[in-house]
Amino acid sequence: MSLDEVDDLRDWLTLAEKLGEVRTINGAHWDKEIGAASEVNYKRPSPPALVFDDIVGYRSGQRVLTGSTANARRLGMTLRLGTDLDDRRLVEELRTRPGEWVANAHRFAPREVDSGPLTENVVTGDVNLLDFPVPQWHEADGGRYIGTGCAVFTTDPESGTLNAGAYRMQVQNDGRAASINIEAGKHGAAHVREWFAREGRAPVTVSLGHDPLLLVVAGTEVPRDMSELAYAGAVLGRPVEVVRGEATGLPLPARAELAVEGWLYPERREQEGPFGEWTGYYSGSTEPVLTMDIERVYHRDDPIQLGAPPGKPPHDYSYMRSVMKSAMIQDALVRSGLPGVEGVWSHEAGGGRQLLAVAVRQQYAGHARQAGHLTSQLPSAAYMNKFVIVVDHDVDPRSLNEVMWAVCTRSDPVQDIETISRTWGSRVDPLRAPGLPPFNTRAVIDACRPWERLADFPRVAEASRELTDHVMSRWPDALGGAR
Ligand SMILES: Cc1cc2nc3c(=O)[nH]c(=O)nc-3n(C[C@H](O)[C@H](O)[C@H](O)COP(=O)(O)O)c2cc1C
Repeated sequence: MSLDEVDDLRDWLTLAEKLGEVRTINGAHWDKEIGAASEVNYKRPSPPALVFDDIVGYRSGQRVLTGSTANARRLGMTLRLGTDLDDRRLVEELRTRPGEWVANAHRFAPREVDSGPLTENVVTGDVNLLDFPVPQWHEADGGRYIGTGCAVFTTDPESGTLNAGAYRMQVQNDGRAASINIEAGKHGAAHVREWFAREGRAPVTVSLGHDPLLLVVAGTEVPRDMSELAYAGAVLGRPVEVVRGEATGLPLPARAELAVEGWLYPERREQEGPFGEWTGYYSGSTEPVLTMDIERVYHRDDPIQLGAPPGKPPHDYSYMRSVMKSAMIQDALVRSGLPGVEGVWSHEAGGGRQLLAVAVRQQYAGHARQAGHLTSQLPSAAYMNKFVIVVDHDVDPRSLNEVMWAVCTRSDPVQDIETISRTWGSRVDPLRAPGLPPFNTRAVIDACRPWERLADFPRVAEASRELTDHVMSRWPDALGGAR
């Protein structure tokens, strides 16, 4: 199996296993054990993917996969960039790619087929999502979540443009329904609102197990009016094959493992949550959330669910989020015309959203502030950002230690921290007071040397590159690995 041949989750697993990137756990219980074992795994450096099989109460072969994109090698493989990338090379390989994928997506519209592995089993009428080993991920979750690494498909009723978003889905009504928690401002939310206004209901299909590439594209802010399936096609260099859902006419990946179909209605809501979220906190109390009565379930024999439970970082997809956000934000900044962008890193500690570091080579008075404010409001960065730290080009934006050193030594809190209010927050923000709209506030921290002191700012007390190379070549055994 080579990377070019990977066409679905099973191929992906075969290749990942061949690369030594997968461990199997047999006999775990869906009730908290799968979630906790996955969490322990994420805390390891470069964690493997975990396949849970022989899940208590379920048939052997009905599996759950977690940690799919939690290290450089598997994320690089998922993005079809290579099978041997490390952190640094993955970031290098990704530079400018998101922009190219957006530009090329129109050439890779999904290709419709009559049937595929997904249609091996089609269940109508008496459906029960709990026929599958849906995990209770965290101890205080309000229920079992079938949708974490999912792709929820909606359309624009006017243009027909397809959207895929990863939105958490809790099993409701003893397995006959599932709530879909779409935050305001997300493309899926706009589609659903527009369908409600026009037709009084909104069609939805959801894939619950697929090539992790779909999780990456559904869970990342791809521009509006761009089909995530076409974007995935641009990553693959060939169209994604889809079958049409029989009830709604919406597409589903033909090689998906498990999928559902139904309609959302404005008044059809169930109490949802709490859920352990990517901020590292439970999402608060339960709230009524739009709920889909499942009309059809499609699945392969022995389907594999793709789990991607969030939690206190590092969590299932925080690494993926950091890498993707960093590349997309850097691309967007360069495309905006801002000069001197040397690097961007979206830190895992902030769930890949809340803490961004941007390195610039200062070229004019005001350049650093411009970089900070611009970054904080880019469409690819605005949702739930809280801190943008702008550093000079001699500071590595990926190193939290270097970034905070710059904050401590090059920023004056009174002068160099600016705040913005009533910005795009989220209901999952632990600071949001219950009942209030999900605004947040954010700070731009200018941790660059002050422009007017660039010439005479104290010299950094660190050995020069030449001197460092010299001592390392003299005592390679004693100093090897020190840098
Ligand atoms: C595993 C996972 C779970 C997510 N859960 C939610 C969620 O419950 N609600 C939400 O609004 N966004 C959630 N997100 C973030 C969205 O998927 C992300 O913002 C995506 O860009 C939304 O697509 P859209 O911009 O096309 O609406 C999740 C992302 C991932 C990777």
